[in-house]
Amino acid sequence: MKAIVLLLAWVSVTYALDNGLGLTPPMGWNSWERFRCNTDCVNDPENCIGEKLYMQMADRMAEDGYKDAGYQYINVDDCWMAKERGPDGRLQADPVRFPSGMKALGDYIHSKGLKFGIYEDFGTETCGGFPGSKFFMESDAQTFADWGVDLLKLDGCYSNIQDMTSGYPIMEFFLNKTGRPILYSCSWPAYFVANSKIPDYKAIAKSCNIWRNFDDIQDSWESVVSIVGYYGKNKGNFSDVAGPGSFNDPDMLIIGNFGLSREQQRSQMAMWAIMAAPLIMSTDLRKIDPYSKALLQHKEVIAINQDRLGKPGALLVDMNMIQFWIRPVTPEGSVAFAVLYTGSAGTPEKLSVQCQSLGMVGPGAYNVTEVFDGHFIGMFKPTSNINITVNPSGVFFAKAVYLGDQK
Ligand SMILES: *[C@@H]1O[C@H](CO)[C@@H](O)[C@H](O)[C@H]1NC(C)=O
Ligand SMILES: *[C@@H]1O[C@H](CO)[C@@H](O)[C@H](O)[C@H]1NC(C)=O
Ligand SMILES: *[C@@H]1O[C@H](CO)[C@@H](O)[C@H](O)[C@H]1NC(C)=O
Ligand SMILES: *[C@@H]1O[C@H](CO)[C@@H](O)[C@H](O)[C@H]1NC(C)=O
Repeated sequence: MKAIVLLLAWVSVTYALDNGLGLTPPMGWNSWERFRCNTDCVNDPENCIGEKLYMQMADRMAEDGYKDAGYQYINVDDCWMAKERGPDGRLQADPVRFPSGMKALGDYIHSKGLKFGIYEDFGTETCGGFPGSKFFMESDAQTFADWGVDLLKLDGCYSNIQDMTSGYPIMEFFLNKTGRPILYSCSWPAYFVANSKIPDYKAIAKSCNIWRNFDDIQDSWESVVSIVGYYGKNKGNFSDVAGPGSFNDPDMLIIGNFGLSREQQRSQMAMWAIMAAPLIMSTDLRKIDPYSKALLQHKEVIAINQDRLGKPGALLVDMNMIQFWIRPVTPEGSVAFAVLYTGSAGTPEKLSVQCQSLGMVGPGAYNVTEVFDGHFIGMFKPTSNINITVNPSGVFFAKAVYLGDQK
């Protein structure tokens, strides 16, 4: 195996939105990937987009350990609205599926010690065809504040991207004007990328706490690999603007659903930790199996994701479907690293890698611990080699704590 030695200069300029929110990547749950726009509460009352679903997920978050692990937000996604605005021009929830109304749902979520997220769209309609915020931004921001909303995800269907550069900051202005701290999640760059344009990430980080850069995640390994590949390329240098208050969002965790093997679920969890990604689950917390639940609540993985430096990892090299990623973490000089085998056929790969190729550039030694099982691997110098086994579609995920120059 070739030795790879890359010294990275970590950029420390901050462009963060100054609302005190999202100082580490936000953690929560969102209905979209798992429950989509299922509005059929007659035939599918357990799984339709309605207040019952969100109340039940809030119960599971609060009672089943997720809240204690750090998950906070219960995010309503598209298809919650009535097809028309009210006579006063205000947004209103579908009266059949949300009979108690959104303020009551927010109160319920808050009563569990959790936070309330909602979805709107920058254009004339949401992606699902419900009323969009165009021409109504100020009153929609106020409506959300009145309902006790803590997070707004603003999508970008039915609009044109030329308007986004001024329009997304205007919504931020109106959110700020309400006086209620509302974490702002923008789909702005994803629409630029979908139109083959490079977004202005400095401007985005000034107005948004988190932002989607790329395609929606789907319930498959191919989708996870495609997203990780996009983040590895870092086109437009979006990693440089990430930090406390501002994070790139590679979309939801699909752990606990149908499309990923156990190995692949670990890979998603490790990579989202390396990328300093928001940890927004989209799975049925009422039916999740113990393996996926434990993974979503894994203390050490979450600690790396939430590392207070807030610096996302970088892809150093991709060799024959084996990717080397490193992320700087605390204590000072330490790194988390992931060796990801994106191929899903074959046998486990055995590698011997020089430590400095994994971000351990010294001058002193490191204590290296495998993250998932907590196994202490040993004390290593930058020039020593570490033995790694990585399974197909699996990951080797470790933390190297810098011990300083001990001579
Ligand atoms: C509004 O913006 C100001 C200036 O950036 C900031 O200090 C304040 O915390 C913001 N308030 C809210 C509610 O976001
Ligand atoms: C990204 O960074 C590289 C290396 O510093 C630089 O050459 C490139 O112009 C930057 N691209 C953008 C879009 O800022
Ligand atoms: C590093 O590992 C060595 C050997 O197990 C141990 O003696 C030492 O306490 C560890 N140092 C830290 C800072 O964890
Ligand atoms: C790595 O594997 C080689 C070959 O099996 C072995 O000689 C060496 O001791 C191993 N190194 C460590 C640090 O375990």
